[in-house]
Amino acid sequence: MIRISTSLKAIGDEEFDSLYPMKIKMLSSTHWTPVEVAKKAIAFLDQKGGNSVLDLGSGAGKFCLIAAANSDAKILGVEQRENLVQISRKLAEKFKLDRVNFIHGDLKDLDFKNYDAFYFFNSFEENINLKDRLDKDNRIDFVQYRSYIDLIRRKFDEVAVGTRIVTYCGEAAEIPESFRLVNSSNKGKLKFWEKK
Ligand SMILES: C[S@@+](CC[C@H](N)C(=O)[O-])C[C@H]1O[C@@H](n2cnc3c(N)ncnc32)[C@H](O)[C@@H]1O
Repeated sequence: MIRISTSLKAIGDEEFDSLYPMKIKMLSSTHWTPVEVAKKAIAFLDQKGGNSVLDLGSGAGKFCLIAAANSDAKILGVEQRENLVQISRKLAEKFKLDRVNFIHGDLKDLDFKNYDAFYFFNSFEENINLKDRLDKDNRIDFVQYRSYIDLIRRKFDEVAVGTRIVTYCGEAAEIPESFRLVNSSNKGKLKFWEKK
C-alpha cells in the first residue's frame, strides 16, 4: 500500500497518481506531467519568485499542484473538462495550496497578457491522436487542431518581452519567432523559451 505524504514537495509519481480515482490515474503516463518535469518547468517559469503562471489545459491539475508546492508562483490552470477541474480543486484544498486556482473553460478566452509565464503540455494533441482517450467525446479534428495552434501562436506573439514558456512534448509549432529557445532537456521533449 502507498502511504500518502502530507506535503507535495517530496512526492513521487506513483504516490501522486494514487491520489486520483483509478480512471484518471490510468491516464497519467500519457496525459499528466511527471513530477520531475513539473519541478524543472516551474524553476524556469518562476525564477524570480511570485510570477503569475498559466497552465494551458491543466487536466487533473498535476503540473499546477506540484508547481505550487515547489515555488512562490501564483498559478492558474484552465481546463475544458469540468470533472478534471473538480478533482484539481479538491487536491489543492487537501494540500492547503492557496496560490493555485483552476478555472473551467476554454483557454482561447483568456487574455495572455495577464500572465508572466506559461506551461503547455501539448494540449491539442487530443484532436489528432486518440491514444488513451480522455473521454468518449474525443474526436479527430485536424482543422480544430490547426486553428488552436494558430490562435495561441498569435496570443504568444502579443505578450511582453521577457515572458517565459515551457513546452513539454510536441513540435512547438505554437511558439512564434518572437521567442528564443533558451534551453532544452529530457531528450529535447522539454523546452524553455523566452520572449525576445
Ligand atoms: C496533456 S493534458 C496536460 C494536463 C496538465 N497540464 C498536466 O501537465 O498535468 C492537456 C489538457 O488540456 C486540455 N485542453 C485541451 N484543449 C483545451 C482548451 N481549448 N481549453 C482548455 N483545456 C484544453 C485537455 O482537456 C487536457 O486535460
